[in-house]
Amino acid sequence: MAFGTETVYGLGADATNDDAVAAIFAAKGRPRFNPLICHYPDADAAFAHAAATQTAHRLSAAFWPGPLTLVLPRGPGCPVSLLAGAGLPTLAVRVPAPEAARALLREAGRPVAAPSANRSGRISPTSAADVLTELGGAVAAVVDSGPCKVGVESTVLDLTGARPALLRPGGVTLEALEAAIGPVARDAGGGAIRSPGQLASHYAPSLPVRLHAVSVAPDEALLAFGPPLPGAGATFQLSEAADPAEAAARLFRGLHVLDAEARRLGLVRIAAMAVPEHGLGLAINDRLRRAAAARPAPG
Ligand code: TXA
Ligand code: MG
Repeated sequence: MAFGTETVYGLGADATNDDAVAAIFAAKGRPRFNPLICHYPDADAAFAHAAATQTAHRLSAAFWPGPLTLVLPRGPGCPVSLLAGAGLPTLAVRVPAPEAARALLREAGRPVAAPSANRSGRISPTSAADVLTELGGAVAAVVDSGPCKVGVESTVLDLTGARPALLRPGGVTLEALEAAIGPVARDAGGGAIRSPGQLASHYAPSLPVRLHAVSVAPDEALLAFGPPLPGAGATFQLSEAADPAEAAARLFRGLHVLDAEARRLGLVRIAAMAVPEHGLGLAINDRLRRAAAARPAPG
């Protein structure tokens, strides 16, 4: 079943049931080495399955319910399917904000594993309609909680190392995290991929994306941030006022809409204007870079 969160819509299933979890991987066409986040109605429920550190308690008090995922060691007797965790000794846990989502999780009485409800490598859905377009018959039902307020996925923070490490920028800013717990290491990206979901090719519209556009060609559609570039035709405005929160909330919708419109008009590329690299801009730019790195799917 799919359900709305404040970040994106998730495709949820009983995290303790191997078959249910396997069905998520199948519906998304997701590689099995990429672990899923477990969703809980509150911090107590989450920390019954994941071993919370003092830092974890501080962060949960400050940011839950909300767009922050904590990676912690699996707790003793943790019932979460090893498939959900891709065999890792750690568990990613989060408490989503919408009351409807938490009511569902309370009612479920068990952890719900939920990746974004898109096919693997594609744009994450931020409305119930997007989920149906993306997954159609592969999903039994969608709990519609309206458009997602945050619009980019949760921040993933690894608390299993010597220092907290940012694995994925998201809805809680690095600045807010550091104000709460001090320095956070930004994942170097070298060596092993610690968060396997962070592969370059992701969030792919069908058309190629060009970053940091300061001009726009006649065969390009424009993803605008602030005053649009002169000469732009097909344009999706992320935020006229250049407000990163508004832009984050509209980002995936914008990629969807602009991709479809550009194809309809026979344009060949999406030109994306630059967004400043701080606050929510970190998450926005991360998603845009992945969209740009993606090879357009044939057909
Ligand atoms: O906002 C969100 O987090 C949404 C909503 C539905 O909650 N979910 C989401 O799930 O974005 P997904 O599967 O698209 O992304 C989960 C990310 C992936 O990058 C995955 O590799 C990472 O979290 N992850 C999950 N478990 C992990 C673990 N034990 N260690 C490191 N990274 C983990
Ligand atoms: Mg995803």
